Amino acid sequence: MRGDVVGLDSAVIQAPQVWVASGHVNSFSDPLVECRHCHNRFRLDKLEDTDQCPSCGNRDTFTEAREFNLMFRTHMGPVESADNEVYLRPETAQGIFINFENVRRTARMRLPFGIAQIGKSFRNEITPGQFVFRTREFEQMEMEFFCRPDEADEWFQYWIEERRRWYLDLGITEENLRLRPHDDDELSHYSTATYDVDYRFPWGWDELEGIANRTDFDLKAHAEHSGEDLTYFDPITEERFFPHVIEPAAGATRTTFAFLIDAYTEEEVRGEQRTVLKLDPRLAPVKVAVLPLSKKDDLVAVTAEVADLLRDRWMIEVDVTQSIGRRYRRQDEIGTPYCVTVDFDTLDDRQVTVRDRDTMEQDRIPIENVVGYLESRLPG
Ligand code: GAP
Repeated sequence: MRGDVVGLDSAVIQAPQVWVASGHVNSFSDPLVECRHCHNRFRLDKLEDTDQCPSCGNRDTFTEAREFNLMFRTHMGPVESADNEVYLRPETAQGIFINFENVRRTARMRLPFGIAQIGKSFRNEITPGQFVFRTREFEQMEMEFFCRPDEADEWFQYWIEERRRWYLDLGITEENLRLRPHDDDELSHYSTATYDVDYRFPWGWDELEGIANRTDFDLKAHAEHSGEDLTYFDPITEERFFPHVIEPAAGATRTTFAFLIDAYTEEEVRGEQRTVLKLDPRLAPVKVAVLPLSKKDDLVAVTAEVADLLRDRWMIEVDVTQSIGRRYRRQDEIGTPYCVTVDFDTLDDRQVTVRDRDTMEQDRIPIENVVGYLESRLPG
């Protein structure tokens, strides 16, 4: 949604040389230990006690740690040999770096500008878990923001604040969000500075996103390995240089999980417990539910007419089963911001009732005004 950022959808399977150049073949690994007693495997750096097996409780039963590469490997073509090994991407970022020059030229971008992409990444995690917090197949949303080297610190600070604002704007509670700078010994091989955006999950603070200053590490590495010129010529200063890169790298799966937790609310309404997902309307999967008060044919026909008016514009649901109270609750639970109810009066006055998920207040409005009414309340 910005003039200085363009989108990309790069390949999931890249030439293996890409992952050699990026450093992933050599250093994208976690320390793996196995319990000699129960044979369960763990990430050493995630163990609370590095001497005690969390599965069987035995002490001093771990093997020596070995570095386990997290990339999924497969083969290109019908013959399986070392010559045709390829990897599923463990991050979307490298697809951006190797397409930097193509995108810059075709989209005619000048520094500073970003290339962003959303897509699946794959990691052979040793210990997936905590629902969708850590999975082996997950959705990332990453951006590489290319800038002049002398402006990198400024853009780094800018994106840290901008990304924090993004979470708050979409409804994350401020007390549940923090920015945490990496210590020197935590930094990835490509980064001179990183901040994590952490969320307070039920088990404690954990990472949603990393914002890294990657300097010119990646463009230089790909230029060296491929022989392509990935420098940038600044037409104003007439200098040629490798752009520096600020990278906000977020997990879409993990972030969605955090939005769900943050929106989940149990409240008492007129002596009854109500569960409601107070998702920002932009995140709600269903924006409007259209509900006839009864299953009678003439009400269902008007319901279909109202639904058709809305369907082009929003994701909607039509629900005709069970009592109206139950159907409101069901929509509350999945976070639907508005319910439009067609009742017997609608047949005479061509008006419907629109109910707000959070306030539960209802407005009576003519059918022909429903789209306008909802448009002013459902941004985006
Ligand atoms: N390009 C840099 C990069 O990939 P990362 O910190 O390894 O950085 C970015 O990954 C984000 O991707 C993480 O902050 C996290 O939200 C998400 N992520 C990483 N591994 C994940 C996994 N196994 N399951 C779900 N999300 C994951």
